[in-house]
Amino acid sequence: MMNILLIGSGGREHALAWKIKQSPRCQTLFIAPGNAGTAEVGQNINIDMNDFPALGKFCIDNKIDLVLVGPEAPLVNGIRDYFETDAALDHILFVGPGKKGAQLEGSKDFSKQFMERHGIPTAASETFTDREIEAAKAYIKHHSLPIVLKADGLAAGKGVIIAESLKEAEKALDDILADKKFGDAGAKVVIEQFLRGIEMSSFVLTDGKNYVMLPEAKDYKRIGEKDTGLNTGGMGAVSPVPFAQGEFMRKVEQRIVIPTINGLEKDNIPYVGFVFIGLMNVDGEPYVIEYNARLGDPETEVIIPRIASDLVDLLELAGQKKLNEAKITLNPQTATTVVLVAGGYPEDYAKGDVITAIEQTSDVLVFHAGTKLNDQKQLVTNGGRVITVTGFGDSIEAAIAKSNKGAQTIQWKDKYFRRDVGLDLLAYTKADSLK
Ligand code: AMP
Ligand code: GLY
Repeated sequence: MMNILLIGSGGREHALAWKIKQSPRCQTLFIAPGNAGTAEVGQNINIDMNDFPALGKFCIDNKIDLVLVGPEAPLVNGIRDYFETDAALDHILFVGPGKKGAQLEGSKDFSKQFMERHGIPTAASETFTDREIEAAKAYIKHHSLPIVLKADGLAAGKGVIIAESLKEAEKALDDILADKKFGDAGAKVVIEQFLRGIEMSSFVLTDGKNYVMLPEAKDYKRIGEKDTGLNTGGMGAVSPVPFAQGEFMRKVEQRIVIPTINGLEKDNIPYVGFVFIGLMNVDGEPYVIEYNARLGDPETEVIIPRIASDLVDLLELAGQKKLNEAKITLNPQTATTVVLVAGGYPEDYAKGDVITAIEQTSDVLVFHAGTKLNDQKQLVTNGGRVITVTGFGDSIEAAIAKSNKGAQTIQWKDKYFRRDVGLDLLAYTKADSLK
């Protein structure tokens, strides 16, 4: 039996908490800081996820055996390194990479160099610093359009600009390098070739040597239906992905997953945790768009419910660097999730609106993202993405019908959700993966 500390407060963490709590191996589950949903499956603790000394002390006081980190910020800030260098903490099994490994997500320049070094297919690119603006402009001039510009560091999902014209590209360069629109995250810019295809994501749990492939997923990033409007953290997700089966996933594993794990080993980067590989399927060939050092949100809300095996066993084996002993079984059904957001998101939105009718939903999993209980103990909105509703079915249509019905049932002032999650995938069949 293990005492487990899960770090984070989104829909991803509620889904992880829900799954961890089902394990007979879990004694007590704590979530720091959690949300109103995680409070229903475990015990929320009010510690900031970047306050490593406070988290460390909590682990000692509460005899924590295993720590799992949900979001990227504490990883990039070195939470694992903190635990490893403190003799009172270094016995704790820790799932989440160290500062160096988290650079796969924390620095686009680092991840591009990593992919180039290890022959992993990705868009051709060049990196320029803020002292090389003229060279960057010259590079853009000779490049075909559209062209993709990426601020090097973490920029809350806003650091990628797809420029359709030279003027737009030059403006993006000035914004990032000269005007520091993304602060230090924009001290360097990666300029890369635009890949035309359809996106999906692959998820891997690794101990740095062995790995387990988790279910793949496709997410829906734009706020508007038919992929229009501003980018968001994610408005919905589907797993499995019909165009990413069979031969295509074999290519992903052989050309990308294995060279990634081997590359980390060759570069002497110990890595225990999840790798989220954002991929473009270009005419049946996979290219890496980005790595993340964590699971995706809302992808977790479809991939974790599809895992039939005990998640605590998998996490423990990862922590013990024995993932070669792991067995994973999946639910073959389709899972879809729809994210209910506060009106106005991803721009300004209200907080504190009372949420009702969750108990009237049926045959779905309801995961909380930005929720809390107010002083009157009412459930209220507390973020842009508020709740996700996961449905299962034998087809995308059957699963999404359940998600959408649940999404319609739950109420608050100015709730919004996309009704078209998964519909684009109906045009694909498993045969599309065989191209
Ligand atoms: P990232 O933050 O790297 O995931 O980029 C955000 C989004 O920009 C991705 O999800 C893609 O939709 C798009 N994107 C990034 N890089 C490329 C590329 N080289 N070609 C086409 N689209 C891209
Ligand atoms: N849904 C995309 C992400 O978690 O980065």
